[in-house]
Amino acid sequence: MSKSSNGSTRLPRKRFYRARAHSNPLSDSHFPIPISPSDVDYSHHFPHFFPSEECDHENGDKQPKKVRFADIGCGFGGLLVSLSPLFPDTLMIGMELRDKVTEYVKERILALRASNPGQYENISVVRTNSMKYIPNYFEKAQLSKMFFLFPDPHFKEKNHRRRVISIQLLDEYAYVMEIGGIIYTITDVEELGEWMRSCLEDHPLFEAVPVEELEADPVVKLLTSATEEGKKVARNEGETFRAVYRRIMLNED
Ligand SMILES: C[S@@+](CC[C@H](N)C(=O)[O-])C[C@H]1O[C@@H](n2cnc3c(N)ncnc32)[C@H](O)[C@@H]1O
Repeated sequence: MSKSSNGSTRLPRKRFYRARAHSNPLSDSHFPIPISPSDVDYSHHFPHFFPSEECDHENGDKQPKKVRFADIGCGFGGLLVSLSPLFPDTLMIGMELRDKVTEYVKERILALRASNPGQYENISVVRTNSMKYIPNYFEKAQLSKMFFLFPDPHFKEKNHRRRVISIQLLDEYAYVMEIGGIIYTITDVEELGEWMRSCLEDHPLFEAVPVEELEADPVVKLLTSATEEGKKVARNEGETFRAVYRRIMLNED
């Protein structure tokens, strides 16, 4: 985090965090992996919400607050930054595979916290491969929202297994989502949009959120306006393909 000449905290500049355009989500990278969700030290991510071991947590009991929103492949963190003031008491985390991009998001959040005291305390980021480690971070039914905004398209058929939405991965997402929780997906690649919609449509634990509900949901407006990729698509007047689905209950839940 750097200071400008007038002493205020400067936001990090993307050009100092150059990263490869893509990382292979199927290769093994070297970063710490928690053994289970209880192994993740969230006090480190959200110090404002975990004041100290001894004092009561802000919800009045000894239960620490849990992360409720996850932005998968968060890129440069635009969605988290926009969601933060809308849900100031909700903890949210971005998951990002590229290390330099993750570093950028960390610095961005620290700079925003420093220049806006008391704000942006509810957002953080981890470097991880969400295709492999979602259950290492979240317990059953922990999340109320998951976001998949402009994920990498992996056009070639042999690379479809690298896509972050698939029937198999939806099993994992269904496990970590509460009943009624919502998955938001959007892309500017029509074929990927159809793929994500058909995976969600075919999965027995998800159902489409009706249009009237989407119109009333303030989060939906952010899907095209908050993230760096979304802004790029909007500037180029590109078409987008959205699929928003709710986690539903089956008898065995
Ligand atoms: C095209 S970018 C979109 C970023 C952001 N969601 C946006 O809309 O601006 C896709 C991002 O997902 C990340 N990513 C791809 N596969 C991932 C994985 N398996 N786990 C975590 N992040 C991943 C990439 O590194 C990249 O930053």
